Amino acid sequence: MKKLFVMLGAAAAVLALSSLSASAQNPIIIKFSHVVANDTPKGKGALKFKELAEKYTNGKVKVEVYPNSSLYKDKEEIEALQLGSVQMLAPSTAKFAPLGVKEFEALDLPWLFKDEATYAKAMKGPVGEWLFKKLEAKGITGLAYWDNGFHMVSANRALVNPADFQGLKIRISGSKIADRYFRDVGSIPQIMAFSEVYQALQTGVVDGCENTASNYLTQKFYEVQKDITVSYHAHLQYAVIVNSKFWNGLPADIRGQLDKAMAEATDYTNSIASKENTDALEEIKKSGKTTLHYLTPEQKIAWQKAMAPTYKWAKGRVGGEVLDLLAKELDIKMN
Ligand code: LMR
Repeated sequence: MKKLFVMLGAAAAVLALSSLSASAQNPIIIKFSHVVANDTPKGKGALKFKELAEKYTNGKVKVEVYPNSSLYKDKEEIEALQLGSVQMLAPSTAKFAPLGVKEFEALDLPWLFKDEATYAKAMKGPVGEWLFKKLEAKGITGLAYWDNGFHMVSANRALVNPADFQGLKIRISGSKIADRYFRDVGSIPQIMAFSEVYQALQTGVVDGCENTASNYLTQKFYEVQKDITVSYHAHLQYAVIVNSKFWNGLPADIRGQLDKAMAEATDYTNSIASKENTDALEEIKKSGKTTLHYLTPEQKIAWQKAMAPTYKWAKGRVGGEVLDLLAKELDIKMN
């Protein structure tokens, strides 16, 4: 009997050891795919998450970050997440319609957030949670919102008055709200994967685009656009999302460690976003390859007036509920 206990004990020890070493040698892999450069707020955030996740799980989780559309482009990465070929993404919320969740596009309304602080506060309120709930039915779990500041807009002509947009083909990332506000000023929006934008601008497939300074710099858009307007007309934010089946299937202790890593990576990303974009804009300015334009208060009002129809139209696209939540959070009126 005693012998049996010893044998059982030894077997248990071997098992415990082998499962420990198995998790160290065969870590859980999280493939984190995204479309921007490493040297951007999102790129740095993804690498910070990797560092912390691997540290807090003692190497039981390995995070493989694939930047710059090196694994998948915009649309493919969302399909890959649903199929389980990747486990984590951080798409811009303008790209969620193919998932069947159009409500996120409300965040793309022009001139919605007065400044960065207003944006940050709003997303910590009920609307952020409410939007994440919408993902659940799609088998996707939202973990965090990552900031990337405000959009500028560019072309090979100065865009200072609404009439300057007339007839221009403008690349947009996916949101019908952006499609709508560019139509309001007479341009022709076109959805295109982020990885294709540089070449499309260079060859004239499109005339212009909108994006944040960090993306203009790292993708070199500023080299193929003569004029950039620092309009800050709309906000760019990301939702870090995971495949729910994968996430819920993780051992609870590991999930807890990853939650902690994500919370810290989120604070880090959101704390650097604004400075990253200011620095990027400075570099673009210094390059001398493009001309920066700033709107006068009158010009800004003219853009706002020209794009106002998008607000009326938005209700039919994103629904009244999310607009009401935003209006309440921001203390504004949405007609
Ligand atoms: C874009 O496609 O313009 C952006 O969503 C890219 C990004 O992820 O910042």
